[in-house]
Amino acid sequence: MVTEPLSRDAALALSAAELREHGARLFAGKFTDAEGRGRPMSTQAIVPTKRRRAARAAWQRLSGPDAGACGSCHNEPVLGGAGDFATNAFVSEGFTNPDFDTLDPQFSNERGTNHLFGAGFIELLAREMTVELQAQRRAALNRARATGEPVKAPLLTKDVAFGTLIAFPDGTVDVARVEGVDPDLVVRPFGQKGVITSLRNFTINAANAHHGMQAVERFGARWTGEADFDEDGVADELGTGDVTALTVFQASLPPPAGYEPENPAWRAAAARGARRFETIGCASCHRPTLPLESTLFTDPGPFDLAGTLRAGDAEPLAVDLAPLAEAAGFARDEAGRWLIPVSSDLKRHPIADEQVAALGNELLAQRFVAADTFLTAELWGVADTAPYGHRGNLDTLDAAIRAHGGSGRKARDAYAALSDKARDDVIAYLRTFRTAP
Ligand code: HEC
Ligand code: HEC
Repeated sequence: MVTEPLSRDAALALSAAELREHGARLFAGKFTDAEGRGRPMSTQAIVPTKRRRAARAAWQRLSGPDAGACGSCHNEPVLGGAGDFATNAFVSEGFTNPDFDTLDPQFSNERGTNHLFGAGFIELLAREMTVELQAQRRAALNRARATGEPVKAPLLTKDVAFGTLIAFPDGTVDVARVEGVDPDLVVRPFGQKGVITSLRNFTINAANAHHGMQAVERFGARWTGEADFDEDGVADELGTGDVTALTVFQASLPPPAGYEPENPAWRAAAARGARRFETIGCASCHRPTLPLESTLFTDPGPFDLAGTLRAGDAEPLAVDLAPLAEAAGFARDEAGRWLIPVSSDLKRHPIADEQVAALGNELLAQRFVAADTFLTAELWGVADTAPYGHRGNLDTLDAAIRAHGGSGRKARDAYAALSDKARDDVIAYLRTFRTAP
């Protein structure tokens, strides 16, 4: 496929359509040894980490490299989609993990492949939420300084509550009561766990973990002092422009548009199911829509950290996602905000308890998030992405709903207590959440 790494400048010279096309080729095409596939001397860790001795094999199903292309896993029902159980990935705690050649959950968490349709909207929603939460922290600190008294501030953005923080006059903050988001108040909407900030960051992690394709902006000479960090004989494998193209391609994937059933019985059942979804409490986490102020996707994003290209490191590039919102027929509110039907609050919740423990199957905390705590799965597209749950081991929507413990327990019990017919209505509603009609 593409052999020469693309620089940021070369990417900026391309039109949005050309960038997407280049990104699509990188996403769908299988990487080869000649392009730098494989990483004999480094691991899947997010922070560039050398192996103690060379890998025994060029491919490794567990700690990777485990696939030829992004699209080898993200392909159901079409490219950019989710994946069957066979595409599960084994993710380590993330930072300086050793290699592992066992399925033992002490060494890695097994995750199902989620779809990427509408991913640009998800990142934009998260960015706006972060800006608002951080402004609330700033305002509380200013008030504390002005009054000389501690200030207790509720954190609320897009009508989603993230607990409270206490700001002190000396500029410190108590975050013990902050919930569902990291203490830095950056909403991280990617990964089943909700621990990754941006498509750009995820792409660099995935390219290294799954393919041993190392991005210059993290593994290159500037950070590691080496142009060929994985010692496979290929320097500068993925250019900064390649990562830009992959990011723009994913951000521009069409959002799930939903589906209006032709069958009148199904349509009526789905309408009843939608009401039921609200009354039994599903919508408290799976928010039917979240309002988005601006559809302008800028790259690099505002909240990435060192190791991912940051705002200020490079001339920004902007792609307007409004045409995608229009094509999907998204509604707008009185303020002109797009109502994105993502069916999530982009918040993390404990989702297992002692009685209902199916989703409490991980042992490793990831990024300091407790093992039983996951991001509210976005339900748009869910009709086409079985199997379900973060491990992709639940066959049906019904099984996925019944697996909710922890904070989801009350709604789950209410669902289980419904009549068969009322439960069928909820499922009929979820079955209209198609990725593409
Ligand atoms: C071996 C299968 C596999 C391959 C190959 C793969 N992915 Fe994934 N992808 C996954 C799994 C599994 C998850 C969920 C990971 C998690 O929760 O930690 C995921 C999640 C993602 C997400 C987050 C989506 C969300 O909404 O949370 C993005 C973005 C992504 N992948 C991009 C890529 C890109 C870009 C590539 C190629 C460079 C790629 N993936 C290759 C399996 C794969
Ligand atoms: C406390 C918040 C919360 C409530 C309430 C809640 N959910 Fe969830 N839901 C989640 C979380 C978190 C996940 C991700 C679970 C996992 O994979 O670990 C999820 C996952 C799902 C999934 C699986 C999606 C997939 O792609 O794997 C479905 C379906 C679902 N929820 C439907 C419902 C329905 C229907 C209700 C009401 C009975 C409900 N949820 C109530 C938080 C909630």
